[in-house]
Amino acid sequence: MQEKLAAIEAAALKELESAAASADVEALRVRVLGKKGELTGLMRGMRELSPEERPAFGQMVNETRAKIESAMACKAQELAQAEKEARLAAEAIDVTLPGKSAPRGKLHPLTLVLRELEEIFTGMGFTVSEGPEVELDHYNFELLNIPKDHPARDMQDSFYFTENMLLRTHTSPMQARYMENHKPPIRIICPGKVYRVDEVDATHSPVFHQMEGLVVDKNIRMSDLYGVLDVFAKSLFGPETRTKFRPSYFPFTEPSAEVDVSCAVCGGKGCRLCKGTGWIEILGCGMVNPNVLAGCGIDPDEYSGFAFGFGLDRIAMIKYGISDIRLFLESDLRFLKQF
Ligand code: PHE
Repeated sequence: MQEKLAAIEAAALKELESAAASADVEALRVRVLGKKGELTGLMRGMRELSPEERPAFGQMVNETRAKIESAMACKAQELAQAEKEARLAAEAIDVTLPGKSAPRGKLHPLTLVLRELEEIFTGMGFTVSEGPEVELDHYNFELLNIPKDHPARDMQDSFYFTENMLLRTHTSPMQARYMENHKPPIRIICPGKVYRVDEVDATHSPVFHQMEGLVVDKNIRMSDLYGVLDVFAKSLFGPETRTKFRPSYFPFTEPSAEVDVSCAVCGGKGCRLCKGTGWIEILGCGMVNPNVLAGCGIDPDEYSGFAFGFGLDRIAMIKYGISDIRLFLESDLRFLKQF
């Protein structure tokens, strides 16, 4: 019996030593000290001993139980502490890890060219002036020397609200609005949305963007117009860019011209963008028609001026090599993320 007791004690202490978790200690406690455990079994076996031997053996069993219990308590505490530390370590937050940054937005390519153009023109002394998209026929056409039955109205098929009110078809009405309220010298650019009845395709959209330029002062000449537009083209597309002025017609300018620039993509050699010609048309311009000056209260005998207008979408398409105008309006992130 005593050997059995010693064996139980040795086995329990050995097993306890290698216990890896509190649960192992608990299982051991049930198996050795529990109601149906090994030690309890041994106590029951005391019947086999003589009555004289029983008290001493009983005491030995109790001492063994106390020894195992205290060793278990010790081990259990040790394991609980280790487990707590492991849990805390797992839950710990590493404040030195780099943070997750929110995705950063980008500027729309039209905003990028608009800002660049504003920079170029303000650098030449222009100020930016914006006007209404819902416009009166009076400013969109009449004051610009385009009376009711003028064939030039067909060049700009329009969205009308009423007989006298429409979505502006170009930014030129800002010329008239500005001249009505300001005396020369005038040097302004007017960017904004314009609207025309047009089927949507790769190069047409019923809404697009223009920028108007207007200069009015004493002794403004066609050569001033050439100079400003040449600087503009070189600043925007690069110093090697060449400009070409072709005679044209607009009711509000006389004489009028259209300006081509040497293709920024192929450097004038000829490519798909310039259809092999080496040149790309970018704007309309001319000397402000004296009728327009007079209609806006500026004496054409004292003052002269020039005006120009171009499509921002077209400029952005040339600058970034974009082949379809619809991309500007479709909010496709694959497109927008490239700029
Ligand atoms: N408004 C003209 C257009 O939209 C462009 C232009 C502006 C031409 C100023 C001459 C002078 O086609």
